[in-house]
Amino acid sequence: MEKPFRRSDLLGIRDLSAEEIRGILDTAENFREINAREIKKVPTLRGKTVINLFFENSTRTRTSFELAAKRLSADAINISVSSSSLAKGETLVDTALNLDAMDPDCIVVRHGSAGVPHQLAKVSRAAIINAGDGANEHPTQALLDAMTIREHKKKIEGLEVAIIGDILHSRVARSNIHLLTKLGANVRVAGPGTLVPRDFEYLIAREPCKKKKNKSSKTEERTSLTVCDHVEDAIENADVVMILRIQRERQNSAYFPTLREYSIHYGLTNERLDLAKKDAIVLHPGPMNRGIEIASEVADSSRSLILDQVKYGVAVRMAVLYLATGGSTQA
Ligand code: CP
Repeated sequence: MEKPFRRSDLLGIRDLSAEEIRGILDTAENFREINAREIKKVPTLRGKTVINLFFENSTRTRTSFELAAKRLSADAINISVSSSSLAKGETLVDTALNLDAMDPDCIVVRHGSAGVPHQLAKVSRAAIINAGDGANEHPTQALLDAMTIREHKKKIEGLEVAIIGDILHSRVARSNIHLLTKLGANVRVAGPGTLVPRDFEYLIAREPCKKKKNKSSKTEERTSLTVCDHVEDAIENADVVMILRIQRERQNSAYFPTLREYSIHYGLTNERLDLAKKDAIVLHPGPMNRGIEIASEVADSSRSLILDQVKYGVAVRMAVLYLATGGSTQA
């Protein structure tokens, strides 16, 4: 049966159903094999044009979108924002309209302000892919994280996933919370009190997964998202431990005293990781600050799948470009 992901824009995980998410992940599985070939190129998107429009720095996302486009034979163009006419005062929407006039099929956009991809989607005929908008969403990161988890755990439903660090400013955390709860994982978040919102109602999946009865009460139910007071509580018995970078570029005040104290109280060390299940895996979206949110001994251990995440990012972005430009999940 054909699965239903037929959208053109990918603006966030929040907008997707569980079935659509599974459809993208299954499509990415099909594309994965191409990346292991000696000749990593297929004609699937020949004649299509993809523009990368990044207003914020990126190593992984921009490179993997470009590789994904090229491996599918699309023409990939990277716009350098500093040398574009944005530097001469052109508005973002005018820039988008001018790019659109050249008939690209897809514009991949990263911007420091939440909602920019949604704004461009309103004026552009090209499919808009969100490559990270402020502290809002980073949908392809959550998809590649899910692909990594599925590959190593063979499922997502029922897993206990700890997300540790700067939740408040993290678009990766938001997209992952949407995705993981939609697919039935139990998510626990923890970090400094100043960097973990207490009210997650607005984040919890609109299409909730099966709710579990609270053991202490037959009438109360708990959602699949739990805010933990201590990092250790979140990590205990977890199947997946996802560590986030402190988003200093989005912080305009002091949320914790020093990086050293952050590292002592919230950093992932082998000792803390030992609280998780024996076969727990460690994820980090990158860029990683060794010795702050994650110790090198953990980052370089066999439990760390940080480079697998990067590898699966290419397949996920191939799937997203393919689906956004009209392909079906039957690929
Ligand atoms: N994870 C991520 O978005 O990395 P980059 O900032 O390098 O793209």
